[in-house]
Amino acid sequence: MAPWHVRDLQEDDLDQVVRLLEESRETAAEPVVTLAEAVGAIRGGMPAVVAAVGARLVGTAVSLAAEDRAWVLRLAIDPEWRGHGIGSGLLSALEERLAQRRVRRIGALLPGHETGEAAFINSGYASRPDATYFEKVLPPAPAEATILDQIGGTIPETGLWERIAGMDAEKTLIERRLVMPLEHRDIAEHYSLEAPRAVVLFGPPGTGKTTFARAVASRLRWPFVEVFPYQLAADPNGVAGALRQLFSRVEHLEQVVLFFDEAEEIASERRDPTSLAHRITNELLKLIPVFRRRDRRLLICATNTVRRMDPAFLRPGRFDYLIPIGPPDADARRAIWTRYIGPDRLAQVDLDALVDASARFTPADIEYASRTAAQTAFERHIATERLGTQVAGADPARVTGDYLDAISGTRSSLTDEDITAFNRDLRTAARV
Ligand SMILES: Nc1ncnc2c1ncn2[C@@H]1O[C@H](COP(=O)(O)OP(=O)(O)OP(=O)(O)O)[C@@H](O)[C@H]1O
Ligand SMILES: [Mg+2]
Repeated sequence: MAPWHVRDLQEDDLDQVVRLLEESRETAAEPVVTLAEAVGAIRGGMPAVVAAVGARLVGTAVSLAAEDRAWVLRLAIDPEWRGHGIGSGLLSALEERLAQRRVRRIGALLPGHETGEAAFINSGYASRPDATYFEKVLPPAPAEATILDQIGGTIPETGLWERIAGMDAEKTLIERRLVMPLEHRDIAEHYSLEAPRAVVLFGPPGTGKTTFARAVASRLRWPFVEVFPYQLAADPNGVAGALRQLFSRVEHLEQVVLFFDEAEEIASERRDPTSLAHRITNELLKLIPVFRRRDRRLLICATNTVRRMDPAFLRPGRFDYLIPIGPPDADARRAIWTRYIGPDRLAQVDLDALVDASARFTPADIEYASRTAAQTAFERHIATERLGTQVAGADPARVTGDYLDAISGTRSSLTDEDITAFNRDLRTAARV
């Protein structure tokens, strides 16, 4: 009886098997299948056998099977145990296991004169001198930082959320619908609450859509990637190609907030099937379901004109929520003025007057008017100093006057039509 016997490879054998695979090579040629690949197949539960003499392993054969096809990845025999028929024994045991999986054809790729060539010939394997082995090594997947760099992503600074002044209703809504379920995914899961994967923020220009999107990323500490339709249009791979590349790169990120600004440019109603928007929309319709399958990612689309977007594109299942970001009400304007006036001069300003005078203003308009007023006051301070005069203590009427002047000099970005259209969108498009 042979002093060795063949059995299935077991988990405990792995150390000895690795040693065998490393040490039993006869030629200097690189094996076609690397050690890591062989170990990967073993760990993946692919058929593999060992030859044992007592507790010592003296040979192993590892395979990879798919459907009715299999490959012997490696055949290794301890140099001291060559010529005992172990190679053929391993191959026939492996064949038996592969046959049970309905494998019909087994191949092997050996570097010239590798161990076990004789075993293959003795076991009825025919060599194929007409076949040529081709190989191409792909570059490793780039690291997270490289991908972020390629797609222009950034890690937003902390505190952006806290810096959004007023807008309490929008803040509360976004906190509850987006931030909380994404932050506490385990608790959400307990209640079968699926964390959101894709949302639309809609509202007139300058109301804070981009600001909110970036602040959500800041709250979650996720990288933020901002995409503009014109960038996609300029891509040499074409719009569809650019989108596919973007989404496939994003796949490699652990977590991400992907932000599409001016989304109506992308997903406008598909009336003209030859238009750019039509092609982008079609591509996105394919990409979003794949994007949604993975955890820890959020797609945010922002638009001024949700009414122009394709309703099929926006349906539930693609977008979880359509959240309005409206013009600031009086309380919100007060908070935004407070934030831009700053603590030093706040007490000298008649806030009520500013809030009333800026009824049609967006946060962006308030930011601009504040800057104008601050510039005026700053220049007056410098001019007074140049004259050698003592800078007088601030006169509250004057400070408020600077702001009211700045307000009259600022054109509100909201028109009546904007407001009417937004109010209609609130009724017809919002989904919160
Ligand atoms: N709640 C807020 N508090 C303070 N500043 C704000 C607030 N919301 C917006 N801003 C400021 O207003 C400006 C415009 O905001 P943002 O770019 O987010 O608007 P938007 O809705 O994305 O506009 P658009 O539709 O034109 O893209 C920014 O400079 C931002 O800092
Ligand atoms: Mg914006």
